[in-house]
Amino acid sequence: MNPNRKLITLDEFTVFQTRQFSNSTGELAIVLRDIGLACKLINKKVNKAGLTDILGAVGTSNVQGEEQQKLDVYANDILINILRNSSDCAGIASEENDDFIAFDDEMSKNSKYVVMFDPLDGSSNIDVNASIGTIFCIQRRVSPLGTVAIAEDFLQKGKNIVAAGYVIYGSSTMLVYATKLGVNGFTLDTSIGEFCLSHREMKLPETGKIYAINQGNSMKFGEKVRQFLDYCMEDNKEEGRPFTHRYIGTMVADIHRTLIKGGLFMYPLDITNNKPKLRLLYECNPMSYVIEMAGGKSTTGDDESVLDVQPTDLHQRVPIFIGNENLIQKVKEYLKG
Ligand code: AHG
Ligand code: MN
Ligand code: MN
Repeated sequence: MNPNRKLITLDEFTVFQTRQFSNSTGELAIVLRDIGLACKLINKKVNKAGLTDILGAVGTSNVQGEEQQKLDVYANDILINILRNSSDCAGIASEENDDFIAFDDEMSKNSKYVVMFDPLDGSSNIDVNASIGTIFCIQRRVSPLGTVAIAEDFLQKGKNIVAAGYVIYGSSTMLVYATKLGVNGFTLDTSIGEFCLSHREMKLPETGKIYAINQGNSMKFGEKVRQFLDYCMEDNKEEGRPFTHRYIGTMVADIHRTLIKGGLFMYPLDITNNKPKLRLLYECNPMSYVIEMAGGKSTTGDDESVLDVQPTDLHQRVPIFIGNENLIQKVKEYLKG
């Protein structure tokens, strides 16, 4: 494939890119292709959301006690079914399932990758036709080939991620994924049903002036976070402040904007109940991997990158501050007090 050709599909690109890894077997490209296929099917459903009986809640809750929307369940089933039938996926863990699923057929047992995902991110935006997304990451299993996947395959630090990304179902549908070779974005051309390379080697701009947080909750985030928010809102022409506040409420959409325009996204600890909201394995790790591979930074609030947190539980949640390095540095100074 000529990498400079005008039209390059996701499948062509992943095959081309993953061949650049030493000892590549082509299996990673297949897993990425399968995730892309699942997301095209989810996209089809999302686009018809108002026409078919897909809006609203199912009447059930997930393991985290959150009400499941019909699209949460649909997207989860699609991803599981496609990855179960993939030739190269040993198992999955999903935000919507209590436990991980190890696929126990011979082909899966001999696959080296496991996939974690938030099948439908931004559930509260489904019924109002705002952007929603899917988030995923791929880890190389630590258990031996030929056996079924085990919990330790999933409970790996984000820094071990092999590939991670997201799909945004927005004004257009885009898939963005990162490997250690960089971050690239593909826009879905619905006329040919292919994700086509549209954003090569994505990098955050040097700095940004947009901060994203659910500011209505700022009383719960504590004094230090509130002081940082005051810094964002203060008038200082030299530093280009006040910053602009934008908050979509879909992490995928807020991170996608941060990747393109710069700035930072925050979901701090709720100090009234000591609970963070966003999930380490399905949201924070994949997004931190994408942003860090694009030149940004992520932290839980101390000196540690999100990618250095050792997961102990599949549904573990962590505080997150993520975006331009200079802004992450600034927020850390405020958090240290
Ligand atoms: P999900 O729809 O997968 O449950 O995720 C929603 C998440 C995330 O996308 C978003 O950033 C955040 O929850 C919004 O939370 P608030 O409504 O508390 O701001
Ligand atoms: Mn989510
Ligand atoms: Mn979700």
